[in-house]
Amino acid sequence: MAKLTAKELFHGILFPGHLHSQDSLRLALKFQFRDTDILIVSYPKSGTTWMQEIVTLISSRGDPHLSQTVPNYARAPWLEQYYFTELLEALSSAPRVMTTHLPHHLLGPTLQGSNAKIIYVSRNPKDVAVSYYYFHKMAAFLPKFSTFSEFLHRFLDGTVCYGSWFDHVKDWTSQTATMSNLLHITYEEMSLDLRGTIKRISSFLQCPLVEDEVTSCVKHCSFSSMKDNTMVNYTLIAAEIMDHSKGSFMRNGKIGDWKNQFTQEQNQYFNSIFESKMENCTLEFVWEE
Ligand code: A3P
Repeated sequence: MAKLTAKELFHGILFPGHLHSQDSLRLALKFQFRDTDILIVSYPKSGTTWMQEIVTLISSRGDPHLSQTVPNYARAPWLEQYYFTELLEALSSAPRVMTTHLPHHLLGPTLQGSNAKIIYVSRNPKDVAVSYYYFHKMAAFLPKFSTFSEFLHRFLDGTVCYGSWFDHVKDWTSQTATMSNLLHITYEEMSLDLRGTIKRISSFLQCPLVEDEVTSCVKHCSFSSMKDNTMVNYTLIAAEIMDHSKGSFMRNGKIGDWKNQFTQEQNQYFNSIFESKMENCTLEFVWEE
């Protein structure tokens, strides 16, 4: 694997240098949110793109036009990426939808006092690790790992891009107790009850939908619809950035795929780290369907 350079570290956290410059990261921390903004926050591979699609569809009252004509990274751009400012111009009408993978200890101070609506998406970390491992194979901007075992150790150490999954999830979700503008949604909830979850999100966004509109949202953000939608499956991205001969962004879309990847030994190792890192944390995860 390529050695990490200090240039890619920001406040001690590794970010993919190709997408994030130190300047773009600094700018993100100074961003002035409006109360009408919607911010999707997640650790990578937790269902970010799915949430971008859901929020787009809810805001369009189930009309798929926007989600079928504008790429997800343009309609809900990543706050910390170098091209954010350019894309922001196109988002001038409210509500602006934005996305971030930044951990709470970095972005929390920026959000203080803001009433922007924040949706935090989490996913069980075994599935996150597997999804992230396969994503590294196709994404040229991420370091390469020769084995899953090597990746898993780094994931559990928190020395992968965007840092520790444990800190990310614990720090963001602990804010739900005090921040009424923060909604925590899990990948597993979306998977097990997409319709109910869309209704919860639409009510949080104060955008109540009639049943037909909900039905349209459900249809257009199903795994099969999104897999075929070039505006969201990343196939429009050049192969030098995301190589679809090495994998698919819309890869598996299931709860519990980790069972096909983890050895018994890796599972025991994971569980021991998980228990110690999540001690005193009351979050519960769905590990299989
Ligand atoms: P898998 O690699 O397990 O298939 P992110 O958008 O945060 O990068 O997350 C990507 C993961 O979400 C991938 O997981 C992808 O398949 C899954 N995903 C995206 N849209 C989905 C949908 N509509 N239904 C189920 N899973 C979805």
